Amino acid sequence: MEIAVRELKKSDIEELAEIESKAFSMPWSKQDFENLLSHSYCFYLVAMAEGQIAGCCGYTDSFGEADIDNVVVAEEFRGRGIAQAMLKELLTRGEAAGINAFTLEVRVSNAAAIHIYEKFGFQPEGIRPRFYEKPIEDAVIMWRRRAVM
Ligand SMILES: CC(C)(COP(=O)(O)OP(=O)(O)OC[C@H]1O[C@@H](n2cnc3c(N)ncnc32)[C@H](O)[C@@H]1OP(=O)(O)O)[C@@H](O)C(=O)NCCC(=O)NCCS
Repeated sequence: MEIAVRELKKSDIEELAEIESKAFSMPWSKQDFENLLSHSYCFYLVAMAEGQIAGCCGYTDSFGEADIDNVVVAEEFRGRGIAQAMLKELLTRGEAAGINAFTLEVRVSNAAAIHIYEKFGFQPEGIRPRFYEKPIEDAVIMWRRRAVM
């Protein structure tokens, strides 16, 4: 299966909001995606597979530190390396844009996501108690920092 990763554009939002609503108990709305397109400090990618949007991920840049805030792959495309292809591109593009450190939160029970983040060098640095709702659950805070020479 060929996977192409490219920047998010407005015409993707309808399809993406559908994927989002099936994947999360508190999904981002179409308006949320539209808002981030208007902010220069937000950078989002989508993965295309079999002519469809298969997933997205992105970050919000805060003075060289980027918060990765939405990683999702449509259920029918999971387990085929799409999240890893998107993250690889996101980290490469972020570093090229001057990001020195990436952080994210993930549900403590989300073993697949934690496995992927660890593969990309993210390390757990703390717990945010009861960070998530529906269901309430703690978040692991993970960081990936670029070595400073
Ligand atoms: C997490 C998610 C983005 C992964 O997407 P994906 O495209 O299926 O991921 P990939 O195929 O690139 O990689 C899956 C990896 O997880 C591993 N994995 C799958 N289930 C696992 C589990 N229960 N425990 C540990 N690792 C697991 C796979 O073996 C694979 O790793 P490998 O390549 O080293 O073998 C997808 O499951 C998803 O959208 N989930 C719902 C939304 C979500 O939880 N997003 C993350 C929010 S922080």
